[in-house]
Amino acid sequence: MTQTYQEPLVTSHHASAPVIEMLDISITFGNVHALDQVSLRLYPGEVHALMGENGAGKSTLIKALTGVYSIDAGTITVGGQRHEFHSPSAAQAAGISTVYQEINLVPNLTVAENMLLGREPRRFGGIHVREMNRRAQQTLRALGLDIDPASVLGEHPIAVQQLVAIARAVDVDARVLILDEPTSSLDGDEVEKLFDVLRRLRADGVAIVFVSHFLDQIYEIADRMTILRNGTLIEERMVADTPRLELVQLMIGRELEELDRLGRGSGSVPDPSRVPVLEVVGLSRKGALEATDLSLYDGEVVGVAGLLGSGRTELARLLFGADSADHGEIAIRSTRRRLRSPRHAIDRKLAFTSEDRKAEGIVGDLTVADNMLLALQASRGWLRPIPQSVRTRLVQQYMEALNIRPADPQALMRNLSGGNQQKVLLARWLITDPHVLILDEPTRGIDIGAKAQIQSLVAELASKGMSVVFISAELEEVLRLSHRMVVMRDRRKIAELSNDDVRVGDLLRIIATEATDVEQEGSSDD
Ligand SMILES: Nc1ncnc2c1ncn2[C@@H]1O[C@H](COP(=O)(O)OP(=O)(O)OP(=O)(O)O)[C@@H](O)[C@H]1O
Ligand SMILES: [Mg+2]
Repeated sequence: MTQTYQEPLVTSHHASAPVIEMLDISITFGNVHALDQVSLRLYPGEVHALMGENGAGKSTLIKALTGVYSIDAGTITVGGQRHEFHSPSAAQAAGISTVYQEINLVPNLTVAENMLLGREPRRFGGIHVREMNRRAQQTLRALGLDIDPASVLGEHPIAVQQLVAIARAVDVDARVLILDEPTSSLDGDEVEKLFDVLRRLRADGVAIVFVSHFLDQIYEIADRMTILRNGTLIEERMVADTPRLELVQLMIGRELEELDRLGRGSGSVPDPSRVPVLEVVGLSRKGALEATDLSLYDGEVVGVAGLLGSGRTELARLLFGADSADHGEIAIRSTRRRLRSPRHAIDRKLAFTSEDRKAEGIVGDLTVADNMLLALQASRGWLRPIPQSVRTRLVQQYMEALNIRPADPQALMRNLSGGNQQKVLLARWLITDPHVLILDEPTRGIDIGAKAQIQSLVAELASKGMSVVFISAELEEVLRLSHRMVVMRDRRKIAELSNDDVRVGDLLRIIATEATDVEQEGSSDD
């Protein structure tokens, strides 16, 4: 184990002493060494990135610092004093404010109530609602966010909820601000807004810990980084001195050529004269999606590009029957169908992984194996259990295909790292052997190596005949995988184009053109 410490970035704001020093921290869960003698130093006025693959120990290190987990060995110093927090609220009281990977706000409270939870302004023995809303509004405005503080949190999309969680964290008078994958559900503009806020806080001397699987973001915002692998400290580095390729190698501990094998949805462009496996005409739902047509052929990957709120998730939910359409027709292999519920869709061999893994997917108290087999079991009916030998074989197969860690089918789902939970959800739907697979942000929160793995798995499944609807905020990924692309804006499809030599810039241009502009129609659609 190498432990290389380098001098921190020193600007006029920087005190020379770290505000936090974690030294040789170890935590084990059963026989998993989640952290093995890991150290972290945080200086005032820096953005410090915690880097590492899914399951490397990033969230665990943060939870050790903030008192969610107690440590088995090591020391934590805060402002030069030995200190250990025994609860997140104790950490917060000491000026350490955290936005965890899982949004832990209360969906049925208002935005303002969530932001000021536990710190509500009071008057006459009760909560001073008007003052609370005013203060929340002030913070939201300062972040450039146009969100009604009196609205109910749960009615907003996840991205907005994420921004509220961040607003809550920065509102507290924090010396240390910890952001564990805060950007995974934000789009470009929102990330920029967040980064503006972070730069301001950094200039004020706040120490910021930032976790993200998007390397561009790391290079844009972070000053220094600590790289973890498999629960051990690999190195502490200045970001500016570390080329990307080197960073990735430090994280994954092997060479990159495995990631390079990856190609686009292996060639065979479907023949449009055949019968589409799924065809929708005039699909719409008030407030969610305006009349949209879409045809999907066997073996085809159709990418959906568009900004947040463009209607991409709404389209996926309507295709799957998770929301019911007001108008429109759905035909599966030319037979008209009504998808009144996901159950109908599953019976017709459709599958859908939701972007909201917490609300719609994960059953934390069940094992990984049970979570993986959930959709298959539901589609067979609960009275026909899956034979044990089949269970074992399927679980084994997908644990390997997606490199799920720990590779223990009996591990409890809630104990897996965020990225590994996401892989289990994907496996759950692949196991049902669907004809149409609708993926909404399947690689969000997934590390760079696993992302390549998932992408090549999708390409392989398509080459074997599965049709895929692939939704992602990362345009590069959409381009790499798709045979055809649908561009959405303002809750409708504004363009459809076949993927011959389309570039990210082309997509961006279509997304950004004014709604009044002439619509573009691509070549493979008719
Ligand atoms: N409460 C727990 N019980 C058992 N194992 C746990 C628990 N919390 C974390 N682990 C294990 O510790 C390891 C590190 O997980 P951690 O969540 O810190 O990873 P991470 O680096 O944040 O990954 P990701 O990028 O996927 O979020 C994983 O193997 C995980 O399964
Ligand atoms: Mg994590």
